[in-house]
Amino acid sequence: MKILVTGGAGYIGSHTVVELLNSRHQVVIVDNFSNSSPGVLSRLRQLTGWQPTLYKGTVQDRRLLHRIFSEHRIDAVMHFAGLKAVGASMQQPLEYYRTNIESSLALCEVMRANNVKKLIFSSSATVYGDPQELPLRETSTAGYDLANPYGRSKYMVEQILHDLAAAETGWQITLLRYFNPIGAHDSGLIGEDPRGIPNNLLPYISRVAAGVLERLQVFGKDYDTVDGTGVRDYIHVVDVAQGHVAALEQLRPADRPEVYNLGRGRGTSVLEVVRTFEAVSGKTIPYHVTGARAGDVASLYADVSKARVKLGWQASKSLEEACVDAWRWQSQHPDGFSGVRRPLVAVAG
Ligand code: UFG
Repeated sequence: MKILVTGGAGYIGSHTVVELLNSRHQVVIVDNFSNSSPGVLSRLRQLTGWQPTLYKGTVQDRRLLHRIFSEHRIDAVMHFAGLKAVGASMQQPLEYYRTNIESSLALCEVMRANNVKKLIFSSSATVYGDPQELPLRETSTAGYDLANPYGRSKYMVEQILHDLAAAETGWQITLLRYFNPIGAHDSGLIGEDPRGIPNNLLPYISRVAAGVLERLQVFGKDYDTVDGTGVRDYIHVVDVAQGHVAALEQLRPADRPEVYNLGRGRGTSVLEVVRTFEAVSGKTIPYHVTGARAGDVASLYADVSKARVKLGWQASKSLEEACVDAWRWQSQHPDGFSGVRRPLVAVAG
């Protein structure tokens, strides 16, 4: 199949492009590089022998989308592009709603106009909010009392896609709710390359290990968890990418989207992640405990049985492997894709 991958130069998008190309699909990428680098393209070719066609631009640009669909016979779309920093979404709600919702509307309209109705959407475990039950099943309460505009924007797009599938026949839509993707491709050629100071745990730890950042702040130690720190379901990004290929193969016309959790089905605390990273990297990760981060919940982990049964997919890589791969990527590419040296940043407190 020929797949249009929005945000295909980004962290999860680029790893998924590798798996698609390795599964003999063809790929067209649209990406505006707002949080990614064109440098990833040559790495994709190095890894797979194929270089995807690239269109630089935003998914909100309907003219650009029409051009892509007129120049390629697209069979299906994977929609990764969007803004994803939880904290920033609280400072810039309009930008988050406009980007995440408008891009999805534009994409669906142009898909419909071109009679392409297979869509896989990047949703997030954040739509479960503060969980009412653990592990989280796809049928668990979602959309209730969400803590930030980012999470609400993901849930709103899920609702829009539900309405679309109910209203018009022929749509084949799958919503993938990611838990916490981490790690990098085991070649060391592609990985996570966030701009500025990372928001997420693993990139932060990697940069502390590399000496780029001084020490980790552990956000809260009074949660009702194994050691008081937050618990999440960390999953190797290549497992997440392979989950997309499995979901693509199982798309069927239906009057409602299929929803799947993509997680490993295990909860791990912040301090357990720190200790695992220290063990695989041989580096000490200095840290200090600060107050809880606004909007964080104590524990979030998935029931992954639906994906196992219906997609025939399950995560195969361990937390250790993810940390090994994250550390390989960080140590081989201390400056990410850009090659521009990052300054040492001291953390107050
Ligand atoms: N944490 C720290 N210090 C840091 C960063 C994180 O202690 O510097 C802690 C957090 O408090 C949390 C855990 O590490 O307990 C994981 O935090 P992340 O920021 O890495 O991930 P989140 O679970 O907060 O959010 C991530 C994505 C969201 C997505 C969500 C779904 O950033 O986009 O997973 O579970 F919606």
